[in-house]
This record gives sequence, C-alpha cells and structure tokens, in this order.
Amino acid sequence: MAEKHISAEEMQRQVAFSEKLKELNAAGREKKALVVTYGCQQNENDSERIRGILAASGYGFCEKPEEADIIIYNTCAVRENAELRVFGNLGALKLIKRKKPELVIGICGCMMQQKHIADQIKKKYKHVDILFGTHTLYTLPELIWQVVTQGQRSVHIIDSDGAIAEEIPIVRAEGVTAYISIMFGCNNFCSYCIVPYVRGRERSRDVEDILNEVRDVASKGYKEIMLLGQNVNSYGKDLQSGIDFSDLLNLVSEVDGIERIRFMTSHPKDFSDKLIDVIAENKKVCRQMHLPVQAGSNAVLEKMNRRYTRESYLEKIKKLRARVPDVTLTTDIIVGFPTETQSDFEETLSLIKEVRYDSIYSFIYSKRVGTPAAEMDFVMDEAQIHANFDRLLEAQNQISREINESYVGKEYDVIIEGKSKTDENILTGRTEGGKLVHITGDASLIGQTVRVYIASAMTWYLKGELKK
Ligand code: SAH
Ligand code: SF4
Ligand code: F3S
Repeated sequence: MAEKHISAEEMQRQVAFSEKLKELNAAGREKKALVVTYGCQQNENDSERIRGILAASGYGFCEKPEEADIIIYNTCAVRENAELRVFGNLGALKLIKRKKPELVIGICGCMMQQKHIADQIKKKYKHVDILFGTHTLYTLPELIWQVVTQGQRSVHIIDSDGAIAEEIPIVRAEGVTAYISIMFGCNNFCSYCIVPYVRGRERSRDVEDILNEVRDVASKGYKEIMLLGQNVNSYGKDLQSGIDFSDLLNLVSEVDGIERIRFMTSHPKDFSDKLIDVIAENKKVCRQMHLPVQAGSNAVLEKMNRRYTRESYLEKIKKLRARVPDVTLTTDIIVGFPTETQSDFEETLSLIKEVRYDSIYSFIYSKRVGTPAAEMDFVMDEAQIHANFDRLLEAQNQISREINESYVGKEYDVIIEGKSKTDENILTGRTEGGKLVHITGDASLIGQTVRVYIASAMTWYLKGELKK
C-alpha cells in the first residue's frame, strides 16, 4: 500500500527550497504574490496553504496582477463556466507578462488533474511557467525554484490518490472563521461530477493532526471553525481509529476558545442519527445543515447515482427537525440533468416547497468530460432548462423571504465578522444558524459576539439592532 503521508524528509526538502527562495527574494525590493481562487472552500483552504508557502519563500502579497512577481491561479473544474473564466483571465495575463517577462505564472488545482486541460494549457498558453495538480501542492517551493533559477517551465501533476502532506505552512484569511480540511477526495462518483476524478479517493487526516490545527487556530483568536470535506459523513472510514465524524465533532468542541463549529458537505446517504444527536446536544455545533439533495425525482436521483430516494431524504430531514426544530437548512440543486423531464423537474420544485430551505444553491447542469452523465442524451432543450431554473429561483426567493420574516422581532447572538462591502457603516455577522445579519455599529465590535434584535427581513439577509 502507498504511504499515507508525504515523508518528513520530502517536506524538509521543500522547506529547504523555500529558504533558498527567501534568501534570493531578500535582495532588492520586496517581491509580491497574488493567488486567485476559483471553486469551493476546500480550494480556498488550499490557497491559504499556497499563500503560506509563498510567505515562507519571502513573498509579500498584492491585489493587482500588474504589481505581482508571481501569480497563481487555483482552479475549479466542477462546471464549465468556472473553467472558461480561468482561460479568459489566463489569456489576459499574456500582455502583462510581455511587459514584465520575469513574472512567474502558475496554475494549479482541479482543472490541472484533467489531462486534456493540462495539455491545452501546456500547448496554447506558453506564458504559463508552473503547472501542478491537487496532489502536488506541497512541491510548490521546488517548482518556483526551478523557474526562477533555471528559467524552465515546471510541471508536476500526478494521478495518484495523493498521500497527505501535513505541516504545509499557511496564511489564513483574517476574520472569525478558520477553514480546516478534515479529509480529501471523494468516493461517491455521482454521475455528473468531476470531483472524484480530480481529487482522488477519500483520505481522512489523523484526529491528532486535526485537533492540533484546531488548537492552533483557537490560540490565534479564531472563534469559529468550518470543517471541510466533500463528504464529511464518511470521515474516518479509512482510518483504524474508530473515530467517526460525530466523534470528531465532539472532540473538536472540547478545544477552548472555539465557540462555533460548522461543517460541509454532508452526503444525505451517510447522514446518521448519531450526527443528529450531536447537532441537538453539543452546544458548539451549529444548528445548521447543508444537505445537498440535487433533485426531487427518484428517477433522476438514480441516474445521478446519489444512492438515496426522495422519501429517505425527506425522512432524514423530518428526524433532524424533530430533534433540532430551529435548524437552518440549505441545499444544492442541479437543474437540467440530461435525463430530467419536465415532470422530474416539477418534483424538485415540490420538494423545495415541502422542505422550505432557508436558501438553496442551484446550478444548471454542466457536462464534464469523462463522467458517466456526459454520455447521456438530453431530454429537455436549453430554453426549457433555463425557464425551469428561473422558476426554481423565484419559488425559493419567496420561501427565503418568508422564513427571514419569521425572525423579525426576535433576538439572536451574532458574531460580528466585518464591515459590509458596500457600506462602510454597516457591520455584518451571522447567527448560529448562519443567517447573515446587518447592523450599524462600531468596527471595534468585529470578532465579538453581540445580542441583536431583528428589525426587518430581506430575501438574503436580516437587518438588526444592537441590544444594549
Ligand atoms: N461534495 C459535495 C459537493 C461538491 S460540488 C456534495 O456532494 O454535496 C458542489 C455542487 O456543485 C454539487 O452539490 C452539485 O450541486 C454541483 N455540481 C457538481 N457537478 C456539477 C455539474 N456537472 N453540473 C452542475 N452542477 C454540478
Ligand atoms: Fe461530487 Fe457526489 Fe462526491 Fe459530492 S459526493 S463531490 S457531488 S461525486
Ligand atoms: Fe471545484 Fe475542485 Fe472544489 S472541482 S468545487 S475546486 S474540489
């Protein structure tokens, strides 16, 4: 069997490259890096590791491509529009590189694990210096070293399921919440989804490694953690520790300083009664659940290889609500899966009306090369699919608004996360259930837990007033 972890020697070898780069970068003006992320929170977390490596290698950070000495695109392959944006932005970098030939351009992440895409970049985007995949992020110091000292292009993409690299440096996003990946990869092979192909098989991190990271972020002042995995409910199945995801939540909650624990994503087929108990009983585990249903029709769920039915899903929601009546619920929905008929879609619509989610993330199906669904013929045309998508959004907006209105006149604990992007004087925060709340208040409240009276409701957020 392959090693579970990248060896300490190899990690040390990479540290040595970082140190050499740092010496090189210490000469002259400060070198700047820009990391651009597409895709999910796990990718954001990977980008935090990339920034950690860059900082350890002597780079500062900037926000504009024109100011950068190194630019890294961390890509997502889940839908075509994410890929198209990368190609567009990568094309635009050609001009910048022409003016500044010493600029190092790197591209990594899920898109690179698809051979046809990596080949296309190698062939048509000659200005890209570094290509690496999801399993080789830890080798970035060596890849940069090769480019800056030898001027040659470095490519490091492997197909292996990727041993886990612990101890990669990290520069986290500032704020209240720290992302912590507890596992990598996915074993589910939903027929539309590229993730298992680009992230490999499920690998769980050791409990102690996770707990050490949680202790570390708590000591740095993060109050909330978000545990990440493509299917957190199968955490530990590949370990011999006997600790499953529910046990892990309880262990993490014992770390001092952490006030709230969130997690994503849970696969409905593995969502257990034991987890419901933890959400109901552990005060630190947020009463919030993201449980992607994808579709409301059993025929489509079967073709999607989701391995649950509409009825078993609804049964789980019922159980969860019986134990945790005020739980906030969100979901993901795909509209226009190839075999979806109009009556299948009506079942999705009826499901969201039955569950009444707080909000939904809906996506138009995007064909992914190499997945089983890519071989299926479409039943509906594009116009029909778009019309259905709009109907779904309209129905959900009304539900979200109605649910938000039920918050008006009540009080909640809100952790203030920061200033609103559109208005300096507005602070934003979240309730335990993850509801976004806007209040007027002083910036000194950022990071604090405050009591808030909800005065009015919008579709996407609540407006509150600070209780004295
Ligand atoms: N592991 C998570 C989700 C990962 S991808 C889970 O199983 O829930 C996030 C969401 O993207 C999915 O829930 C799905 O709704 C959507 N998605 C995945 N592949 C897609 C595709 N080919 N086209 C459109 N949406 C897709
Ligand atoms: Fe994709 Fe399904 Fe795995 Fe989620 S569980 S990442 S949708 S294959
Ligand atoms: Fe995208 Fe990769 Fe995440 S494909 S959704 S960035 S795991």
